[in-house]
Amino acid sequence: MSFIIAIDGPAGSGKGTIASFIAEKLGFLNVDTGAMYRSVTLAVLRNNIDMNDKEKIIELAKTLQIDLKNIDGSIHAFLNGEDVSNEIRTPKVNASVSIVAAIKEVREIMVEHQRALAKDHDIVMEGRDIGTVVFPNANIKLYLEASAEERAQRRYKQNLEKGLEVPYEEVLESIKNRDKIDSTRADSPLRVPEDAVIVDTNGWLPEDARKNIYKLIDDLMGEN
Ligand code: CDP
Repeated sequence: MSFIIAIDGPAGSGKGTIASFIAEKLGFLNVDTGAMYRSVTLAVLRNNIDMNDKEKIIELAKTLQIDLKNIDGSIHAFLNGEDVSNEIRTPKVNASVSIVAAIKEVREIMVEHQRALAKDHDIVMEGRDIGTVVFPNANIKLYLEASAEERAQRRYKQNLEKGLEVPYEEVLESIKNRDKIDSTRADSPLRVPEDAVIVDTNGWLPEDARKNIYKLIDDLMGEN
């Protein structure tokens, strides 16, 4: 049986950073499920499919090949063999991803793919429904929290580092909008899994995150 660490939380709560620290420390496969939903969304946009046309979106999602590969310590997303890691993080994808991710049939395709990845790997997987739906029996479940303002500030800085100038207010609005859709949708809404450890990441810089999370994982692994 694989060892599974599930990490959930809202946009910008530090899931990506923390998952990569854990994967590095334990040598686990790191799976960013948000990148999968983002890749489907990019394909929908590229095919000029109306965001209200569920049937067409589902039809397209069934045909897509989505792969995640670790290249020099960071996760790259491939859509039908093309590296789309940068393109899936544009404001355009941000604005539509929660609509695509709310479609039950799209989620079913993604969840099947996610479960298959754990068949032969120990895994740290981050997303919105990992501890609740994808792996309800995960060995360790973390739920990350931080204020919307702090999360927007982090995302604003990440964008600048990538040369993307999106005003802070716009980033904050986009995050709040996604949080609302993600936590109120009918299928697999963002929730704190019942047996999750809640981690408050307010005020954490990346170096704090590494230290704090290593300690927490050591403690939790000791219990397992
Ligand atoms: O990195 P950030 O927190 O901004 O978002 P992400 O993890 O890349 O996820 C992008 C979007 O995909 C989320 O806002 C959700 O709508 C959707 N998602 C989901 O529904 N279920 C997951 N397991 C992961 C992401």
